[in-house]
Amino acid sequence: MERSKSALALVLESRPDLPVHCLRPHAAEAAARWFLRHFPGDVLYAVKANPHPAILDAVHAAGVRWFDVASMPEVALIAGRFPDARLAFMHPVKARSAIRRAYFDYGVRVFALDSMDELAKIVAETGGAKDLHLVIRIAVSGDYAQHKLSGKFGAAGAEAVTLLREARAHAAELGVSFHVGSQCMRPEAWRVAMQATGELIRHAGVTVDIVDVGGGFPAAYPGLTPPPLDQYIAEIRDAFETMPVLENADLWCEPGRALCAEAGSHIVRVEARKDDALYLNDGGYGALFDAAHDGLVFPARLLRAKGGPRRPLKAFRLYGPTCDSIDAMPGPFFLPADVHEGDYIEFGLTGAYGATLATRFNGFGEYEEAIVADAPLTSMYGLSGRRQTQGNVVAMARRSGGKA
Ligand SMILES: Cc1ncc(COP(=O)(O)O)c(C=O)c1O
Repeated sequence: MERSKSALALVLESRPDLPVHCLRPHAAEAAARWFLRHFPGDVLYAVKANPHPAILDAVHAAGVRWFDVASMPEVALIAGRFPDARLAFMHPVKARSAIRRAYFDYGVRVFALDSMDELAKIVAETGGAKDLHLVIRIAVSGDYAQHKLSGKFGAAGAEAVTLLREARAHAAELGVSFHVGSQCMRPEAWRVAMQATGELIRHAGVTVDIVDVGGGFPAAYPGLTPPPLDQYIAEIRDAFETMPVLENADLWCEPGRALCAEAGSHIVRVEARKDDALYLNDGGYGALFDAAHDGLVFPARLLRAKGGPRRPLKAFRLYGPTCDSIDAMPGPFFLPADVHEGDYIEFGLTGAYGATLATRFNGFGEYEEAIVADAPLTSMYGLSGRRQTQGNVVAMARRSGGKA
């Protein structure tokens, strides 16, 4: 894979015709080291956020050994790459064949579930195994997160209590898990979720060996300024102390975005400008999915040779290359006012749920890849020298008034 000292150097050297998926493995490694050092339990990397080999290797090099996998291809990918990896199959709804293969072919023992039907499936497909670690996914509020994950999965109320009791009878170890939603802006979301989960455990009267507080840890997008990550850790540590679980219960987290967002950026070219609209060679069907479908504003900068005059910033809306009119990214994205056809823009924080989500719709979605050595555009870990924003993005955050 191509290597360059920075995204700017890459553009100046090669004027790429395709969008470029820039990888910064050093940023993923730093984020993983931060979590391993500060989280008072085990850190599982949520592979779905970015399964690129360079990111997996960086997270592994930092010392992460547990991986949250959600499909058979993810199980095979991680088991094949890291013989020392420990896999937790955390999708609450799995194909029978996936349960069977994960258990018998890959030695997976940790399975998430949120229904009695799934419990029956797991017990049947593992031949009534006695060494299962069953983790009950509890439904919790998604109100504190930018991207809610509360609608689809999770057992609630009496159903959760019954499931906890039934699963206990089949589990060598019993766990609880939840997901407060992705890009969670409020650390207290975890306290609220852990208290609610604790109530269900009390009602069920079961012993619990594992508390998995899921993912949801944020990155620093313009207009979405999270508190420092150590506040999240403090809330979780305190709430864990009060949970009615075994004294030596394990505490897990499953960060995806927080480990890999900063480790990716995306270089696109402006193909046309119409007033305040820029037409790009990538968009909502590509690596900028979240800008189109979730209203996310990525930090952005123009990649031009240094030394020219500084231009005032202007608000732009963006369009992707496909014919579909939903391929639009309202932003606003603040860029130098004279941006024109042929300019290159770098979007930061696309390491999570970026190129991973890209489709080949309309024939687009083909990228170059490069490893770049410069700092991410923004960082929660002090990597960019600015925790929240950089350059033009400072103006964007201020002027977009908290718009996601
Ligand atoms: C079960 C589970 N764990 C962890 C994650 C990672 O979440 P995030 O990227 O918000 O940290 C997800 C994301 O969908 C998930 O579904």
